[in-house]
Amino acid sequence: MTGQAQDAAQPAGSAGSYELVAPLGSVMTIMEDVFNKMPDRAKAGTPKDYKALRREAMFVAEMGNLFGRIKDRSSKKDWIDFTGTLKAAGLAMADSAAKGDGENFKKSFDKAKDSCGKCHDKYRD
Ligand code: HEC
Repeated sequence: MTGQAQDAAQPAGSAGSYELVAPLGSVMTIMEDVFNKMPDRAKAGTPKDYKALRREAMFVAEMGNLFGRIKDRSSKKDWIDFTGTLKAAGLAMADSAAKGDGENFKKSFDKAKDSCGKCHDKYRD
């Protein structure tokens, strides 16, 4: 899965209207807490772990979706690209978790992680 379909749903340059009530850094910190625990869960790999992973992956996808709509940020094409990748990778992780497919889960996790780093390089002070 690529970010293409997601980007089409919200064309680059479309103005977002979402305003965070929380500081972006707080939201990021909680997302990171969830995100960083995912590989160990995938390694454990019980049905219970995959059930939790699916939920957590959906949460990460939703954060990507939300970040892509933040007012004042979403006019930037690369911001939309990074958030679109995070959303698509989150959805793909959820899909793999639902199938108990650890190998593809890992691939999508790495894609998501790559989007964290790329966006931070550009937008994090
Ligand atoms: C679209 C851009 C973007 C993506 C994608 C993104 N981040 Fe961030 N992140 C930011 C920005 C901008 C900040 C700085 C926020 C601030 O302090 O105002 C930040 C800050 C953070 C912080 C520091 C928070 C603090 O206040 O100490 C953490 C941790 C973090 N991100 C984790 C992640 C993780 C994990 C991912 C991927 C799963 C991710 N981020 C994806 C843009 C992004």
